[in-house]
Amino acid sequence: RTVAVVLAGGTGTRLGLGIPKQLLKIAGKPIIEHTLAVFEAAPEIDEIIVLMATGHVEDARQIVEKAGLRKVTKVIEGGDTRNATTRIALDAVGPADCNILFHDAVRPLLSGRIVRECVNALWTYAAVDVAIPSADTIIQLDENDCITDIPVRSRLRRGQTPQAFRSPTIREAYRIAEGDPAFAATDDCGVVLRYLPGTPIKVIDGSDENIKVTHPVDVHLADKLFQLAAAQAPRLTDHRSYSEELTGRTIVVFGG
Ligand code: CTP
Repeated sequence: RTVAVVLAGGTGTRLGLGIPKQLLKIAGKPIIEHTLAVFEAAPEIDEIIVLMATGHVEDARQIVEKAGLRKVTKVIEGGDTRNATTRIALDAVGPADCNILFHDAVRPLLSGRIVRECVNALWTYAAVDVAIPSADTIIQLDENDCITDIPVRSRLRRGQTPQAFRSPTIREAYRIAEGDPAFAATDDCGVVLRYLPGTPIKVIDGSDENIKVTHPVDVHLADKLFQLAAAQAPRLTDHRSYSEELTGRTIVVFGG
């Protein structure tokens, strides 16, 4: 069994809308509805669990009901931090061994290809991350904003979601983390890396479109990307995203 956990427990302070950003409408639907629709359509996903921001659980339930999302089995309240929300999700998934994909509700442009590759990678690896190369040089700073390091760009990636795990691995990592008073992480692969060192975490290719709606400019970007996807929709097969289709065509042009 493979469960998609949609993390929507945040309030979107950086966007500053007064409502959690996952409820903002883009291309005619709340962001979270777009996200849920990808998992609903993915044949690899059996069940979806939604962790929603305090005070908005009912809003999320209504979205699920109105959209007729039949794979959603639970819509419950998240925690104070993203990792606290993950812990609540682990309880909600139940004790039976399964695959779990954790995905940010505010990445609505996830493709079916990424979901499939995550689930396939779990046959070989107990932990899987999704990432893209960085076009920008990444620099490391000290507390005075002076550069301390410029890591080699070709070995750097920008982490996205989903992050996928066999359930015993992510449970064990969180169990150990609970005993660490200094525990702090912003993602779930980081918890496995830190508390189960030596566990290989496979990285699969994300996509440039799989943006996390974070700042006001991302709302415009996401809207445009949905427009492009809609314009391409009749041509897209197999849940491929617009840029993947574009890349595919480019390869055909150059290769042909
Ligand atoms: N998230 C969560 N529980 C929290 C905090 C965040 O489930 N307590 C989720 C968010 O809803 C989002 C994802 O984690 O889907 C990525 O987090 P981020 O973009 O940081 O969302 P927010 O915390 O809502 O945004 P901000 O940091 O601007 O407040």
